[in-house]
Amino acid sequence: MSLLVTNIGELVTNSDRRLGLARDMAVVTENDRIAWVGPAHRAPAADDILDVDGAAVLPGFVDSHTHLVFAGDRAAEFAARMAGEPYTGGGIRTTVGATRAAPDSVLRDNTTRLVTEMRRQGTTTIEIKSGYGLNVDDEVRSLRIAAELTSETTFLGAHVVPAEHAGDPWKYVGQVVGPMLAAARPYAKWIDVFCERGAFDEDQARTVLAAGQAAGLGLRVHGNQLGPGPGVRLAVEMGAASVDHCTHLDDADVDALASTAIDCMCADGGHSTTVATLLPGAEFSTRSPYPDARRLLDAGVTVALATDCNPGSSYTSSMPFCIALAVREMRMTPAEAVWAATAGGAHALRRDDVGRITVGARADLIVLDAPSHLHLAYRPGVPLIRSVLHNGVPQ
Ligand code: NIG
Ligand code: FE
Repeated sequence: MSLLVTNIGELVTNSDRRLGLARDMAVVTENDRIAWVGPAHRAPAADDILDVDGAAVLPGFVDSHTHLVFAGDRAAEFAARMAGEPYTGGGIRTTVGATRAAPDSVLRDNTTRLVTEMRRQGTTTIEIKSGYGLNVDDEVRSLRIAAELTSETTFLGAHVVPAEHAGDPWKYVGQVVGPMLAAARPYAKWIDVFCERGAFDEDQARTVLAAGQAAGLGLRVHGNQLGPGPGVRLAVEMGAASVDHCTHLDDADVDALASTAIDCMCADGGHSTTVATLLPGAEFSTRSPYPDARRLLDAGVTVALATDCNPGSSYTSSMPFCIALAVREMRMTPAEAVWAATAGGAHALRRDDVGRITVGARADLIVLDAPSHLHLAYRPGVPLIRSVLHNGVPQ
């Protein structure tokens, strides 16, 4: 089955770091792949035609950081924060309680609802973490449900130390790297750890990541969210694909990230890059200072944007909202933000088949109700996603 998407006013291909913009273009998809990209007047015939009437077309968003498997919500905690309470991450245990108590059907329905919400807003690749089970059975079922919905699944048994292990965090780390990892392994592609005061310290985080690596999982880190700390440097040292949040960085952190950036033309095509994944929904929802994206970009760091969708620190499923925040609050240009939400996310997942519109890539496209990618930040809060193709299939 082939489809000609034509009359594209502005096409974002991401064939270069400046979006690879082109005008008056067409794209042909063949089943789940992109088969042809070029000027509309030279387009080959296809089984079907989608005339987008001058609209902008982008690669589907790549949301490389979400925590979608949970039950309940924490709206009251949000209200308390907006009345002045600080965010500490302590509420994670509230969601752990609700998640453990929920039947599979409730977890599956909630996760599916959020994935559907994301797709409507243009997200076509989604990473999903566990991390609200924090025992063998509940971590495994979280990952099993996540794996029904995406191939980008992440074992986050090391999210926080659950209440029943509060007195002995190392004993809990032993559980994470022992029986939990063994049971999670068949359903997980990645392992993640929350390396932060109040969660896991550097030695504990290194132990978790090393065990995951030995089990064949790729590495991701939550680091430097609530304060300065060792997360970023540990992520770089261990070759993690991404370190996420990056809100409190010192010069050594920025230098370490820059030393891995894809602009270094690494022989492996960027697969040794540690991406800085920024999650502005978290700063919005916790009323915290935003990360300094400008400093990272100016240093040459590879930056991704993601939603961090979770019931505590960032209950948004909207990549367009994160793009608008990144532009308005983090001094990213609209082009940098759109790149970070598509190609940047693909780098954070070490994928070269998504986040771009080039021949051979997956046929994951967004048609905007707008003539340019600029409108994603220029018209915040407006539903600009007219249609989405995922694996070549209109959603
Ligand atoms: O990425 N930082 C740790 N984990 C989540 C928050 C989870 C929660 O508050 O429930 C985050 O912000
Ligand atoms: Fe997170």
